[in-house]
Amino acid sequence: MKKFPSNFIFSTSTCSYQIEGGRLLGGRKHSNWDKFTIENYYIPPEGVAAREIASIDVAADYYNRYKQDAKIMKKIGVNGFTYNMDWARIFPNNEDEVNEEGIKFYEKAFKALYKKGIKLIPILYHWDSPLWLEEKGGTSSRAFLEAFRKFARVIFTRLGKYTDIFYVNDENSTYTVSAYLDDYNPPRKKDEKEFWKAVYYLSISGAIAKQEFELAKKQGYVSQKALLGIDHDWCPPLPYDAKNKDDIKACEIFNEYNLNLYLDPNILGTFPKCFHDAIKKFKLNDMVLEEDLKILKENTLDLIGWNYYRPAIIANPKRLKKKIKWQVEPQTFITKEAYIVFPKTERYTSWNWLIKPEYLSVGAKILWEKYQRPLMIIENGIGYFDVRENGIVNDTYRIDYLNEHLQQVQIAIDQGIPFIGYSLWTYCDIFSPSGGYRKKYGLVGVDFENKTLSRFPKSSMFWYNDVINNLTTFDQDKLEYDKYKNLALESYQKDKIWRK
Ligand code: BG6
Repeated sequence: MKKFPSNFIFSTSTCSYQIEGGRLLGGRKHSNWDKFTIENYYIPPEGVAAREIASIDVAADYYNRYKQDAKIMKKIGVNGFTYNMDWARIFPNNEDEVNEEGIKFYEKAFKALYKKGIKLIPILYHWDSPLWLEEKGGTSSRAFLEAFRKFARVIFTRLGKYTDIFYVNDENSTYTVSAYLDDYNPPRKKDEKEFWKAVYYLSISGAIAKQEFELAKKQGYVSQKALLGIDHDWCPPLPYDAKNKDDIKACEIFNEYNLNLYLDPNILGTFPKCFHDAIKKFKLNDMVLEEDLKILKENTLDLIGWNYYRPAIIANPKRLKKKIKWQVEPQTFITKEAYIVFPKTERYTSWNWLIKPEYLSVGAKILWEKYQRPLMIIENGIGYFDVRENGIVNDTYRIDYLNEHLQQVQIAIDQGIPFIGYSLWTYCDIFSPSGGYRKKYGLVGVDFENKTLSRFPKSSMFWYNDVINNLTTFDQDKLEYDKYKNLALESYQKDKIWRK
């Protein structure tokens, strides 16, 4: 049986505003996601796969349950936990006053994991800005840069002892498109000029964080071998018709806007052509300072985190026939020359997300060849309407999905691509931006329905444990669904970890 490298990181990922709660506890103040969810509260009819915007005030209550969660993670067997940090907890009022209570919370939560041999992998920014920063112009303003520098410095110097892997930003692509081109997520700008500004400042912020990271290394706050990466959600494109030149060209155009635009700056140190064209078009020359470009060039990042859920099937819109079912996804707002389409012949989740695991290894090869940086999957998982029976969820579909994708990681490793780890989305059920609490991603369940927020096992958590212990072959026909279900049932009845 093939094995993953001995130092391979098996982790789960999650994000503060989706799991943490305690939004007004411990000196914290509101962020733009608090404001957005309060102002746009909406619960669609039960059982419908639609957007739910519920309260994130308590979420899965990680704020109060981190000790129990550390024990459960130990039981799963992971050696990593990837966590998108909460800026507003650390700097609730302005960019200068550190909230010691906020830092203390993270120290306690991270120590609880660290003591159990679980490496914390913090991601500094995941779409969620403190309100004071939003009022100063947020990510599409220069004010973002200095504030981010101070935030990064505090993370590295205060929390650096618990880890040697960090990431700067999560999904600059989804964030800028959904929050600046579209009004799907806060700050809901719907303004193309603001979009380009946000892309610019986020890219520069990654390089600024690298400056602070290197300084923290020199000063001994983080280890000499520590790495700082960027986390990106590239959807590898494939042509709707592999023989059609226009579709093939459309894939190249898609990559310019979905890949090059977000990874070239922080990995190669330069912006791609589409960025320079946009600067001319929107007369943004004054924004781009020589000094910024120098920082960008001299501070490229060490690592690529990749959120892989699905590839994008791309067609040139000019030749689209009505015969295929297609839908325009937000990315297409940037360019009218590449549309994402959804042919009926493909597999989809109940939330209409394309399932095509093989593009994980295909995409990994492209990323490695172009950027020559080690890779880590930071998000990969399936959102589903779970059904709880006898206390547990027997999520065989999640096992199938994850199994097929992890197999592709192994294929990529066999091809010589340096993968340092795999972090699935997500540790437990949380608030999902597109499905609220009805769209479940966790290996571990959270009782949102009865509002107890108590944790309970799913079969997939025991499957993951087998993977980590090298007990699976990834052979779909040999998956031991009954074994995992029985382990979940037994654990739910006997294990103390489920009682807080
Ligand atoms: C990623 C985000 O894009 O997708 C996560 O980083 C999100 O925050 C995940 O939860 C899945 O998306 P969704 O909308 O189904 O929860």
